[in-house]
Amino acid sequence: MSETLTKAAARNIFYGGTAFFFVVFVALTAHSVTKANAIAAANPVTPSVAAGKHVWEKHACIDCHTLMGEGAYFAPELGNVWVRYGGREDAAGARDALKAWIQGQPSGIEGRRQMPQFNLSDQEIDNLADFLKWTSEVDTQNWPPKVSG
Ligand code: HEC
Repeated sequence: MSETLTKAAARNIFYGGTAFFFVVFVALTAHSVTKANAIAAANPVTPSVAAGKHVWEKHACIDCHTLMGEGAYFAPELGNVWVRYGGREDAAGARDALKAWIQGQPSGIEGRRQMPQFNLSDQEIDNLADFLKWTSEVDTQNWPPKVSG
């Protein structure tokens, strides 16, 4: 066997490698699309969820909070807040608790980080609750690993 790499061998490695990884790329793309469609079908985005996301973006909640681990680390993770407020057992109770929390800010408690008052309407808070419920139902494969984000 020759010790040196011939031009033909280099070319074959190049074409073979390119073809191989192209096939891998296509397969992974197909897998991602199938998986994303299954996730979307299992947890559909209703008009209220979309409206809640709009409220979330309009008031830049992500400037202080994280959602599924992404965002700012000033305030608690909210991807799991629906579950932490007991939404799985008592959806109406969690909705009321979220509303009371948002309407009760800022708490004014000395030494505690403060959340501003956004003067949201009942409708906006309802939409936000639907958005946070929807978010809590996305399978993040246990991300973030800590409840606090
Ligand atoms: C300026 C920073 C800031 C912004 C912007 C902000 N928050 Fe907060 N938020 C906080 C802080 C700080 C806390 C924790 C306060 C405490 O524990 O006393 C908090 C707590 C919360 C909690 C309770 C979390 C828990 O674990 O009990 C909810 C729900 C919440 N925020 C929702 C929102 C929503 C929805 C928005 C956008 C409309 C928003 N926040 C925007 C600072 C912010």
